[in-house]
Amino acid sequence: MDMDKLVSLCKRRGFIFPSSEIYGGINGFWDYGPLGVELKRNIKDAWWKDTITTRDDVVGLDCSIIMHPKVWEASGHVGGFSDPMVDCRDCKGRFRADQLTFILFVLSTEGGAAPAKNIFFFGSGNELEVAEQHAKKIDKLTNGVKPGESLTRTSGTFLDLDPEVRAKFTCPTCNKEATLTEPRNFNLMFESHAGAIADEANKVYLRPETAQGIFANFRNVVDTGRVKTPFGIAQVGKSFRNEINPRNFTFRSREFEQMELEFFCHPEESAHWYKYWRDTRYQWYVTHGLKSSKLTLRDHDPDELAFYSKATADIEYDFPFGISELEGIAHRGDYDLSQHQKFSGKDLSYFDEDRWEKEKAGMGMTSFKQYLEKNKGAEKPGYPYQYVPHVIEPSAGADRGTLAFLCEAYQEDEVGGELRTVLKFHPRLAPIKAAVFPLVKKDGMPEKAEAIYRELKRHFNVFFDEKGAIGRRYRRQDEAGTPFGITVDGQTLQDDTVTFRDRDSCTQWRVPAAGVLQAVRDLLDGQPIPGGEKVSEGSE
Ligand code: GAP
Repeated sequence: MDMDKLVSLCKRRGFIFPSSEIYGGINGFWDYGPLGVELKRNIKDAWWKDTITTRDDVVGLDCSIIMHPKVWEASGHVGGFSDPMVDCRDCKGRFRADQLTFILFVLSTEGGAAPAKNIFFFGSGNELEVAEQHAKKIDKLTNGVKPGESLTRTSGTFLDLDPEVRAKFTCPTCNKEATLTEPRNFNLMFESHAGAIADEANKVYLRPETAQGIFANFRNVVDTGRVKTPFGIAQVGKSFRNEINPRNFTFRSREFEQMELEFFCHPEESAHWYKYWRDTRYQWYVTHGLKSSKLTLRDHDPDELAFYSKATADIEYDFPFGISELEGIAHRGDYDLSQHQKFSGKDLSYFDEDRWEKEKAGMGMTSFKQYLEKNKGAEKPGYPYQYVPHVIEPSAGADRGTLAFLCEAYQEDEVGGELRTVLKFHPRLAPIKAAVFPLVKKDGMPEKAEAIYRELKRHFNVFFDEKGAIGRRYRRQDEAGTPFGITVDGQTLQDDTVTFRDRDSCTQWRVPAAGVLQAVRDLLDGQPIPGGEKVSEGSE
């Protein structure tokens, strides 16, 4: 699938626009148009329903975007949430040092190494891929390496090189030599000031993740929410990161939405819950239409893990620009609650009353007395009844999810000898659920079609279209990803049946007009296409 085609369809059909486009746009910010906002909302709603509403063990939360600055000290974001950044002194271009890749050619002779034959830097995009193409050209040019000479090639990122080698390199934007600075750490948090005076004391941050609001409210939820471990607190909301290099359409933006769950459990049960959420989240994407052949569940190697994390896995999707992260599932141990406990001075441990009662009942008097003896002076029993819960964190991006579902849905196929572009969304995610069409604008067809449209509109987002040839109207809805089309024609006026068209197969059936609402409802619930007389198959 060609990414440019998808970006242009998103613009043309009102899924996604560059933010502030009339002023030339602003890098890293995007707006969702009428179809895009429905698609993203359906994704967030499906996540919310599957993660919270239909479960007994997860509650929701909606925290403020700006929080006490100490939250970000405790979380480690003030000190550590940064990317190594390189500037060009000449053109003022700015690059992430870990994304600035190079290919270095060294021509060696028998007598010793000659100077570097050539060096390439690429600042962004599919760096190595582009570099490889250039490399092939170089290889061709150097096919004529003389006897006694050999050409070696190494590659890596800016960070892999010695400072004196880095100093010589060429800027990938302006192509000037020796203009790049040494890498410097650049904090990704957006800063602002709360209050009238813009000084250090009033400095605040836009949250770079929604998770910390959940940890900061852990005590509140435990004290008021009647929750018992294992339980989760979930949140959907905007996060902000001043990404050095926003790219790949909405994939890496500076303002984006996250769907995060913090699942709190007993330390001894955490390995079980980690595996549970890792598998459940992977399956969620498959259920909603991402092909498992395009999804990877990648376990992090031990050297990739944060020092506090016992295990982390990424769910990755094969985007047109490469395999990239959709969601991370991390076993964070008790790191976050312990940090907030330390920085706030508040007790964030949890007394597991159920476990305590169960153990007490099973202990027998002698061992219970022994236990109390051993824990003398303690007001409450200690571990394993009183503990700082361990956290399993599935953290998903709503915008990345939206982009993956768009990429997967985009298809070009042929119907009745005609090429069409179609977005084959899962019906649950489709922005418009059904479109209603009068075949022609006469003989009472528009009135009948409108009555059906009004009935459906009370329940779902549906669309009414009476303009143009019916084939073109179908194509327009195919491009919007509308799964079902309902057409009122001459026969409707005689027997009160309509045609019901399936977007993916283009097959049409005749069904009673009175059954349309139930049919759409069943289809959205995953039931099969309604029976009835087949009118046409795969053509129109
Ligand atoms: N609380 C953990 C956390 O925030 P993360 O891996 O930094 O972890 C989680 O982010 C998810 O948020 C990512 O998998 C991705 O889907 C989304 N995300 C992160 N940065 C993003 C960006 N700049 N643009 C769009 N989505 C982003």
